[in-house]
Amino acid sequence: MSRTPSPKNRIEELREQVQYHNARYHGHDDPEISDAEFDQLVIELRQLENDHPELVDDLSPTLSVGSLAITTFDPVVHRVPMTSLDNAMDETELRAWGDRVAKGLGDQAVRYVCELKIDGLAISIRYENGSLVQAATRGDGKVGEDVTANVATISSLPKHVASAPEVVEVRGEIFMSIAAFEKLKAEREAENLERISNGRAPLPVPVNPRNAGAGSLRQKDPTVTAKRDMSVWSYQLGEVVGGPEFTSHHDTLDFLRTLGFPVNPAITIVDSIEAVAKFCHEWKERRHELTYEIDGVVIKVDDLSQREQLGFTSRAPRWAIAFKFPPEEKHTLLLDIQVSVGRTGRTTPFAVLEPVFVGGSTVGMATLHNRNQVAAKDVRPGDTVVVRKAGDVIPEVVGPVLSKRAKNSQPWVFPTQCPCPVKSTLVKLDDVADTRCVEPNCPFQRDQRIMYFASRGAMDIEGLGDRTVFAMSDAGLVADVGDLYSVTVEQLLTLEGFAELSAQNLVASIQSSRSRPLPKLLVSSLHPSRRGSQFQRTQRSSKNCVMLVLSSVVSKSARFLKRLSERQ
Ligand code: IVH
Repeated sequence: MSRTPSPKNRIEELREQVQYHNARYHGHDDPEISDAEFDQLVIELRQLENDHPELVDDLSPTLSVGSLAITTFDPVVHRVPMTSLDNAMDETELRAWGDRVAKGLGDQAVRYVCELKIDGLAISIRYENGSLVQAATRGDGKVGEDVTANVATISSLPKHVASAPEVVEVRGEIFMSIAAFEKLKAEREAENLERISNGRAPLPVPVNPRNAGAGSLRQKDPTVTAKRDMSVWSYQLGEVVGGPEFTSHHDTLDFLRTLGFPVNPAITIVDSIEAVAKFCHEWKERRHELTYEIDGVVIKVDDLSQREQLGFTSRAPRWAIAFKFPPEEKHTLLLDIQVSVGRTGRTTPFAVLEPVFVGGSTVGMATLHNRNQVAAKDVRPGDTVVVRKAGDVIPEVVGPVLSKRAKNSQPWVFPTQCPCPVKSTLVKLDDVADTRCVEPNCPFQRDQRIMYFASRGAMDIEGLGDRTVFAMSDAGLVADVGDLYSVTVEQLLTLEGFAELSAQNLVASIQSSRSRPLPKLLVSSLHPSRRGSQFQRTQRSSKNCVMLVLSSVVSKSARFLKRLSERQ
């Protein structure tokens, strides 16, 4: 039999879900639930908070509603569907597409229009009798969302078009330039510092121009979108009523240009797949010359009657293909190699880089995994290195650019001492790649253990992030996780960045973590990877291993619970 949760529990559950889905939407532009489902969560949370004002607190996501994707945009049925494109991941796939086109058209000569593939959001903008009347996102290709008010704030987009057909739908890509993205990011970071010191939850910081553009387009308040400096390139026609007859795609682009729509200047017409491949490779190298992001090249058959002959598959036109660029790589300076210490004492070397914009965000650090990896790559401080990042993946140092290496450069040597103030000796066993700090009082390990304890998957102490843990630890307020529970508002007020409200909120969320279930508490205070390597070294039988884990869990938990109860 299922039980209805209390309003307090349900509110907590909903806040957690709203924050999680909000981060997926804004932080990663990768939502897991539909907008309607998200709205439902927010509506239910609002209702409960209205009914129980005593349960409202400053950290509720309903109070930072401006940052939420409460998308109640009206649906728009696309009269001409907005289909997607098939992808070619390399030149072989591109040529295979060229062969299919050639086969589909018999022996006819083919002209291809090569266009940059803008990394933004597809849009369909409808003009009736020369006036912008509707702008809709792609949605599922059949039904999109009405974002007219927001799109109308884009300054480079004409709102009225002289001598336009009775109806014309202009299709293109809305995007945020790299400069506009950097500006927004800097503003958001400054705003968050202010919010944190006033005890308010920070707003999500956009990770790349595409994600920032998506968030800006879905604002409920168009004055917010207007400040975001969005741009548009038009590249296709949708429904047209009463316009001229076209025989080629490039005619339609000329027409759009004549009407005053922004059409990308790099668009090039070629007459062979070899020339298409050349265009793709050229722009793969030159993409950084642009002030906006592209993620490939779109190639379209130019002749509109040939397009009709080729037709569509169930999901995409046969007459076009998207050539996707491989993961992006950039050169930058390796300023230093430093070592971080995890909660189990495992050390991880990482590269400190001259910040570089790669794969959609600025990278200043990249993991080097372990000492073997550094040795295998032979990267050295002072080297120019190749950095790679694909999508949201962790940045990686691919290797050094040897032609740029200084003559007197020396291989990097793994430190023998822990970087923490205790400077304990680091230990590396012969049969494992990891180097460990085995000092039980290492303050770096201790801080990591506290951070892990407070993290979302563990005790989930809201507001206790890395910076706060470091500050509390440096000030001597906490030496282990048990100490958290005796930290007072007055003590927090002595730390930089805390105001009365933020200090009260943190103490409250630490105290409310006491109600986490026992399994959470156990998981939060375990050190699984150290146990794992201990097993490898001693090569115990699996039955013994299980016993060892259980006894370790029980004794650790008993010790921990005892200390916790002593402090209450
Ligand atoms: S044409 C039927 N042209 O790429 C043709 N799309 O991977 C439809 N895109 O959904 C699209 N630049 O959002 C076209 N020059 C360009 C493009 C472009 C970016 C996007 C668009 C589309 C996606 C397909």
